[in-house]
Amino acid sequence: MAKRRTVHSCQSCGAQHPQWHGRCPDCGQWDSLVEETYEAPRSAAAKGSGRGAAGLPAMVPAAEDEKPRRLSEIDMDASPRLPSGEGELDRVLGGGFVPGSVVLLGGDPGIGKSTLALQVAGGLAAAGHSVLYVSGEESAEQIRLRAERLPGLGGSLQVMTSTRVEALAGPWKELVPAFVVVDSIQTIQTDAIESAAGSVAQVRESAAQLAATAKKVGSILLLIGHVTKDGTLAGPRVLEHLVDVVLTFEGDRSHAFRLLRASKNRFGSTQEIGVLSMASHGLEAVENPSELFLEERSTRAPGSCVIPLLEGSRPMLVELQALVAPAPYGTPRRTTLGLEDARVALLLAVLDRRSRIDLLSQDVYAKAAGGVRVAEPAADLGIALAIASSRLDRAVPPDTAAVGEIGLGGEVRRVSRLDVRVAEAERLGFRRLLVPAVCHREQLERRSKDAAGGAAATGKRTDCELVPIEEVAQAVDWLEHNGVPGGFS
Ligand code: TYD
Ligand code: MG
Repeated sequence: MAKRRTVHSCQSCGAQHPQWHGRCPDCGQWDSLVEETYEAPRSAAAKGSGRGAAGLPAMVPAAEDEKPRRLSEIDMDASPRLPSGEGELDRVLGGGFVPGSVVLLGGDPGIGKSTLALQVAGGLAAAGHSVLYVSGEESAEQIRLRAERLPGLGGSLQVMTSTRVEALAGPWKELVPAFVVVDSIQTIQTDAIESAAGSVAQVRESAAQLAATAKKVGSILLLIGHVTKDGTLAGPRVLEHLVDVVLTFEGDRSHAFRLLRASKNRFGSTQEIGVLSMASHGLEAVENPSELFLEERSTRAPGSCVIPLLEGSRPMLVELQALVAPAPYGTPRRTTLGLEDARVALLLAVLDRRSRIDLLSQDVYAKAAGGVRVAEPAADLGIALAIASSRLDRAVPPDTAAVGEIGLGGEVRRVSRLDVRVAEAERLGFRRLLVPAVCHREQLERRSKDAAGGAAATGKRTDCELVPIEEVAQAVDWLEHNGVPGGFS
């Protein structure tokens, strides 16, 4: 008979311990162990022939798809991708869903995960695919209400509200859906395990059962997952290696635009991002993110600088803003939004020591406009210029952008793919770009080499003037000579 066992699982790292501890011995998280009981499977030794059988069990004939095959004999066309119908999602997936794959979509509550899933599910249903939408969070009426707002949804979409894995088996077998959405994995539970829905054991076991069914039937499974306060997918790491693709949907709820990224993708790159915006009738693709981000830019105020970021292969112009004000009390405040605290602190120290700007007794506020999160080191020069611009009360000219990483010595370092960034800045009407001097030299060398090779006529000459910057102090000097006085100091 199967034996009942009790373990204490950490809800943070998934480690299991025989006894309860106030603090997880594995990850150090306090008060994260929860008691769970499950039926221990009879051990292999008990089932097998001899006692202590540790190797592979006795030969059992393997099913056809379990036999080894030569790599060259595997047919690649056997699983063509299914485009989701949402261009931005397809871009992140690498060209559409792979049949039989499991995709996890995570994100903060209210960011638009259910909307995206319903839009994709409805679109596929309208295109004639069999689609099953399972919701453990919303009632069927709520789903219908939401669907009313989204145009072009197929009425043939099958909707089901259930929180039990077992209840899904029937419809899944009957419909043989091409696409299944489970919203959300934290609300689903299986009878095989006694612990509450949303606990590590439940999430792991339910997801494993669903994924196995998806693989067997050949359905694409989209699991929706919540994100905990510290930004990791709840039901933590346990899900990440179970699924083929992990997508995160991020953005600021008070802004319309959303970013879709892949942190794991077994079938494509994790470099690409999708940009969408939440409208009154669902999510829309944003073809030109730069235009969206620069829409509300105030071009005359000091303390702002535009940077050409690169997300995957996609250039995006983003505005960085800074406000420097004398600190009224002892320790000056440093507040950032959309930028890393550590990076801004480092740049403040570099500016303070390596240029003639003094920031020690100043409050500094810095943010990326539009709710974007900027992590690329290439933003350093732009952040430094925005801060210097506010401190000197001189605005960066509206047709100027800056890009470059800054080292602790104040040196401006190389960035990747300068040509792509320049082209995007130029497309949006920028006439001048402050760039690392190294990149500038390389660009000149390449041009002269092209000229020597007779390819000069074809080599694209940009109208955008590149200003080489060697050190951060040089950028500050440039700003002093070329900046537009703000008139508030
Ligand atoms: P939702 O998809 O429910 O978020 P999640 O599943 O990630 O928790 O998103 C809900 C938000 O989106 C809600 O605040 C309303 C808004 N919304 C729109 O602005 N337009 C729409 O067409 C829809 C359906 C929702
Ligand atoms: Mg939801």
